[in-house]
Amino acid sequence: MTPAATPSAIVVDAVSVERNGVRVLESVTTTIDAHRVAVIGANGSGKSTFARLLNGLIVPSSGSVRVAGLDPVRQARKVRELVAFLFTNPESQIIMPTVAEDVAFSLRASGLPREEVSRRVIGILRHYGLDDLADRPAHELSGGQKQLLALCSGLVREPGILVADEPTTLLDAANTRRVSDALIALPQRLIVVTHDLALAARCDTALLFDRGRLIAQGDPGELIARYERELC
Ligand SMILES: Nc1ncnc2c1ncn2[C@@H]1O[C@H](COP(=O)(O)OP(=O)(O)OP(=O)(O)O)[C@@H](O)[C@H]1O
Ligand SMILES: [Mg+2]
Repeated sequence: MTPAATPSAIVVDAVSVERNGVRVLESVTTTIDAHRVAVIGANGSGKSTFARLLNGLIVPSSGSVRVAGLDPVRQARKVRELVAFLFTNPESQIIMPTVAEDVAFSLRASGLPREEVSRRVIGILRHYGLDDLADRPAHELSGGQKQLLALCSGLVREPGILVADEPTTLLDAANTRRVSDALIALPQRLIVVTHDLALAARCDTALLFDRGRLIAQGDPGELIARYERELC
């Protein structure tokens, strides 16, 4: 018998998604309870669509999604508090002129006193090695630094879950290692969509997508081997 989902689980039940008349996800059912989850599969297999269901950026055409018991569509505000989303291109997430201002912007609705906001901003920038760049224009950072900045902006408000869509794709080897290490060490639940199979291998479990279907879920090593054997 399958164990009951814990209250913090992500439960996806018979979800299909149609976009512009095309069925891009086909009856996906899964319960995610692991701490670090890799989402792998070929280009166009539905990984980003799946990831975007988890914070309501994409609405199921049928079926249901629950994230820690919350409906990402009907309870969008609560779900966005719980789930931080990291896009492939960190440029798209930079909002404010400087590094520190950009991170602080994430706390604008927190109601925290200004000193506490500054303390948290500096604390997280220091943790990810960006504190020396706090007053630099955010758009002048390198690609890897921007990805770390996006991570800081997402994490500073202490979400329960981080969903990251190909966070290392634009990075060189050193920054890939840096961002991967940061992701793997997070206390938050991590759902990471990735073509970086070394990063996928470091997760606790994996989901394998193929042409809009979730075809397997389980040990990352086994799924990576199946992906390379059957689908590459
Ligand atoms: N707005 C849209 N209208 C029609 N089809 C779409 C739309 N957005 C995505 N698709 C299709 O949905 C399918 C799944 O796309 P998705 O972005 O989820 O794939 P992916 O697995 O993330 O791929 P990649 O590895 O290339 O990022 C693709 O075939 C894509 O062409
Ligand atoms: Mg994608």
